[in-house]
Amino acid sequence: MSALAELYEKIAACQDCEELARTRNKVVPGEGAENAQIVFIGEAPGFHEDQQGFPFVGQAGQFLDHLLSSIDLKRSDVYICNVIKCRPPENRDPLPTEISNCQKWLDQQIEMISPKMIVTLGRYSLAKYFPGETISKIHGKERKIDNVIYYPMYHPAAALHQQSLRQTIEADMLKIPSLLARTEEAKEEESKPQQLSMF
Ligand code: URA
Repeated sequence: MSALAELYEKIAACQDCEELARTRNKVVPGEGAENAQIVFIGEAPGFHEDQQGFPFVGQAGQFLDHLLSSIDLKRSDVYICNVIKCRPPENRDPLPTEISNCQKWLDQQIEMISPKMIVTLGRYSLAKYFPGETISKIHGKERKIDNVIYYPMYHPAAALHQQSLRQTIEADMLKIPSLLARTEEAKEEESKPQQLSMF
């Protein structure tokens, strides 16, 4: 069994949040490639995700699929998960205790996948990686820390509620391939002097 599959079993058995464990239908740990270069992190499962056990399978997910295909990617090429792995009842906002209880799962996922890029979708993943920042100011502006690119985007559902954001989200998504390519180039540059020193 893969390390991620083993982790999913632990997440599925989690009882740390009494209300969420009691009211959930399915836990939604995440979906995608264990060796994905990009991880997308949303907020929390909604109704459809809770029914099916997979992230972003509702309307926002359809828009996310469209965004991925705009850069020639499929779900299976990336990794998609949420800050919270269980649906809060009536889609209420996750509580601070729920976010901190669930943090260990997200941190382990990121450690196992070790992505080149982490894309935050929505306010809870924004708050984790860009504390104190506002999405309207920093969306589409990458930050590189320890060779990982952190990239804040509006949540895809925002485009469903506010049509004017659709183009912004689409444009931010289109920047992803060149950001990734730049890290590859930087790596090649870093390795050059060593190669030269061999002669
Ligand atoms: N919104 C999210 O943030 N995550 C999902 O999985 C679905 C909708």
